[in-house]
Amino acid sequence: MEKKILAHFKSCAEKVEDALRSEEVAKVKGDEVGMGADGTPTKYIDQKAEKTAIDHFKKETDLSILSEEKGIIEQEDEGFIIMDPVDGTSNSLLNIPFYCISLAFTPSDLSEVKVGYVKNLHTGTEYHALEGKGSYKDGHPLPLKPDDVDRPNYSIYLGERAHPESFELASKARRVRALGSAALEICMVAEGAFDLYFHRTPGEKRSLRLIDIAAATLILREAGGEVYDKDLKRLNMDIDTSQRKDVIAIYDDRVKEVLQ
Ligand code: IPD
Ligand code: CA
Repeated sequence: MEKKILAHFKSCAEKVEDALRSEEVAKVKGDEVGMGADGTPTKYIDQKAEKTAIDHFKKETDLSILSEEKGIIEQEDEGFIIMDPVDGTSNSLLNIPFYCISLAFTPSDLSEVKVGYVKNLHTGTEYHALEGKGSYKDGHPLPLKPDDVDRPNYSIYLGERAHPESFELASKARRVRALGSAALEICMVAEGAFDLYFHRTPGEKRSLRLIDIAAATLILREAGGEVYDKDLKRLNMDIDTSQRKDVIAIYDDRVKEVLQ
């Protein structure tokens, strides 16, 4: 069943990639077209990607869907497809080639995710994981390179909405990046490119949703890393469009020492 779901994820991502590539979409992709289920504005590109993906899943499966703009779409079968049709929308609007579709399957919550799939919609790079079967980037097992915790390279959410601790932490790393797509950045921790992904905001008001991180969490866990909440407890999240949590993703546990 999991392999079949992964195949559906891949064909869905191909359709979304094709749908976003047209010149017509390029002209209007930043237009605001409404408000999403999580209370954030929906851009044309989000709507176009989501409609393409939902049409695909409704035709191919009877699984329920949790998606960013539409919220929960109930179908007959047990279990949910957790979907962010475009993670990194602002990158796509700025033509920064770092945005993706994130698709996961879980029978219940984040702790039970069985399939995770993330595809960079600009470059076509794919990450995937099946529970208990490891994780892969374009078919190569993760991690791709050993961690070098002595010369840390952190991915930290920065800017006016970031938690003050984020800036303190940034000053402790040899190198820091803030790339704007949580799903891809967590996959890059799994890959070994980053030693840490850190996303904290005051009161967790602008923190991450299940849709942003469900797929990448399995991909990192299957590579041997872990995803934590702000108290460094193993992160869990419910099927709930309003829930937001701080997220800390680490491959090598020694990185935790910097955070305690
Ligand atoms: C955003 C990205 C970004 C994170 C934001 C999210 P979106 O997702 O994951 O990295 O910093 O908090 O909202 O809105 O492009 O799906
Ligand atoms: Ca999104």
